[in-house]
Amino acid sequence: MGKLPAPFLLFVFSTLFTLIIPSAGGLSFNFTIFSPNDHSITYDGNASASDEAIQLTKNRIDANMASNSGRATYYKPMQLWDKASGNLTDFTTNFTFSIDSQNASKYGDGLAFFLGPEELPPLRFDGAGLGLVSNNQATNTTDNQFVAVEFDIFQNEFDPPGEHVGIDINSMKSVNNITWKCNITGGKTTEARISYNSSTHNLSVSFTGYINNTMETQFLSHIVSLRDILPERVRFGFSASTGLSYAIHTLRSWNFSSSLEIVGNVTNPASPPNDGARRNRKKKRTGVAVGLGVGSIVVGAAMVGFLIKFLCRHEEDEEGDHVLEECMDDEFERGTGPKKFSYRKLARATNNFKDEEKLGEGGFGGVYKGFLKEIDSFVAVKRVSRGSKQGIKEYAAEVKIISRLRHMKLSPTHWVVS
Ligand SMILES: *[C@@H]1O[C@H](CO)[C@@H](O)[C@H](O)[C@H]1NC(C)=O
Ligand SMILES: *[C@@H]1O[C@H](CO)[C@@H](O)[C@H](O)[C@H]1NC(C)=O
Ligand SMILES: *[C@@H]1O[C@H](CO)[C@@H](O)[C@H](O)[C@H]1NC(C)=O
Ligand SMILES: *[C@@H]1O[C@H](CO)[C@@H](O)[C@H](O)[C@H]1NC(C)=O
Ligand SMILES: *[C@@H]1O[C@H](CO)[C@@H](O)[C@H](O)[C@H]1NC(C)=O
Ligand SMILES: *[C@@H]1O[C@H](CO)[C@@H](O)[C@H](O)[C@H]1NC(C)=O
Ligand SMILES: *[C@@H]1O[C@H](CO)[C@@H](O)[C@H](O)[C@H]1NC(C)=O
Ligand SMILES: *[C@@H]1O[C@H](CO)[C@@H](O)[C@H](O)[C@H]1NC(C)=O
Ligand SMILES: *[C@@H]1O[C@H](CO)[C@@H](O)[C@H](O)[C@H]1NC(C)=O
Ligand SMILES: *[C@@H]1O[C@H](CO)[C@@H](O)[C@H](O)[C@H]1NC(C)=O
Ligand SMILES: *[C@@H]1O[C@H](CO)[C@@H](O)[C@H](O)[C@H]1NC(C)=O
Ligand SMILES: *[C@@H]1O[C@H](CO)[C@@H](O)[C@H](O)[C@H]1NC(C)=O
Repeated sequence: MGKLPAPFLLFVFSTLFTLIIPSAGGLSFNFTIFSPNDHSITYDGNASASDEAIQLTKNRIDANMASNSGRATYYKPMQLWDKASGNLTDFTTNFTFSIDSQNASKYGDGLAFFLGPEELPPLRFDGAGLGLVSNNQATNTTDNQFVAVEFDIFQNEFDPPGEHVGIDINSMKSVNNITWKCNITGGKTTEARISYNSSTHNLSVSFTGYINNTMETQFLSHIVSLRDILPERVRFGFSASTGLSYAIHTLRSWNFSSSLEIVGNVTNPASPPNDGARRNRKKKRTGVAVGLGVGSIVVGAAMVGFLIKFLCRHEEDEEGDHVLEECMDDEFERGTGPKKFSYRKLARATNNFKDEEKLGEGGFGGVYKGFLKEIDSFVAVKRVSRGSKQGIKEYAAEVKIISRLRHMKLSPTHWVVS
């Protein structure tokens, strides 16, 4: 380890909080920007994070544009309702986006916020379906399972004239629609809000449009019992497509909150047995991952990590540090203790301890959010400042406690590294 640029001893673990603090309500997150390093968004098809936004369809300059579709969903499902109690969730989501034809007067096809089965069908590459349905089954309600709010800029045979916003249930022919006074040629940003009231079953939408460059808010709603249409747990996010006509569909911010807790096993709440293989990789270790919703430090408290950075270079270590290290190595080698990760890996996981990844400031240093590919899980990493004797002692104590907890099979996962 002496040859590492910085000989650090690092320590990451999830804490007792997982066991002690009940998860606070449903899902909640707040993306003011999107980073390619953030693994809490799942991208499909032609969608990607770029320029702090999600580009759902490609820029026409990038490629031959025929049939371009993209989907961006939250990595965790939402508990929409619960069979056992009959409870249904409330949810609210706010997002901003633009659909930009870059001055072209002919454009397509639009973007939708949608809820679908946890195991989503493959993304469709037909313009009219906005990625949600295949063209020839666009209005076949027995073939499709989704609830969507579409911001549609192309008139298909089943559409009302012109740009419109619609509420879609298992079909691209909307159950309710309104003309959207948007400005696609100017690529103006739209602010939208969608909420669902579990007692009134009112799915309501508000969104902005422009009339002569003046912003105006429009409304649309529909009464629908989501329990009758969708499974208990749903995947949700955005989908967009282009066909022969195109535009760039960009999601700029997204926040969300729902009220119903995920129902199921505490140790592995997001891995129901009927899960398909496709998302399994993403869902392993949810005992940890579930603890840390993006932007949700309350839930994030479910995990705390430590990273200890030693004061001295290895060869100059004081005796105490050597003793400490040997003792820690013991814990590791017994295989009962936490796992080790290299500093480099933790640095990469936290985007080099970037300020944006910072969750808070602890007694001995900052706590950063990270994603460790090796364990396919979000972690919180605490970086302890050089020379914090107190921090090192704390670290030693933590390793021991965790090793003991593992003996008692109490704590799901912990890791350490040197
Ligand atoms: C989301 O985060 C931004 C910036 O931190 C903040 O201004 C905004 O109020 C937050 N929104 C919600 C709903 O928490
Ligand atoms: C869009 O995605 C599909 C499937 O991933 C791919 O085949 C196609 O080349 C992509 N198109 C562009 C323009 O990147
Ligand atoms: C269902 O809702 C009732 C009333 O809001 C609440 O008391 C109960 O805890 C909920 N049950 C579950 C499993 O969420
Ligand atoms: C669109 O038109 C405006 C004014 O006509 C011009 O300033 C702008 O550069 C054009 N944008 C593109 C992408 O062509
Ligand atoms: C609708 O979809 C179902 C299931 O895929 C199929 O059996 C049926 O033939 C379709 N109906 C039409 C009119 O295409
Ligand atoms: C769109 O909404 C209007 C008014 O609510 C309704 O009359 C019309 O039938 C709808 N069009 C379609 C295609 O759903
Ligand atoms: C759309 O926005 C562009 C750029 O702001 C503006 O030049 C144009 O007049 C707007 N079009 C309409 C119909 O409001
Ligand atoms: C749902 O609607 C009812 C009746 O309008 C209202 O009292 C309640 O506050 C609403 N719930 C939410 C979460 O907005
Ligand atoms: C749904 O709620 C909104 C307010 O959130 C209200 O304006 C609208 O009328 C309601 N829709 C129905 C169908 O009751
Ligand atoms: C927009 O501006 C034009 C020209 O100034 C005017 O004729 C038209 O009535 C305006 N439209 C609205 C909806 O205000
Ligand atoms: C969405 O925005 C409205 C105000 O526009 C706010 O009251 C609501 O709390 C926001 N919801 C979320 C989940 O941020
Ligand atoms: C929890 O998991 C166990 C084993 O995987 C399973 O038998 C049990 O039914 C699950 N409980 C719930 C509430 O899902």
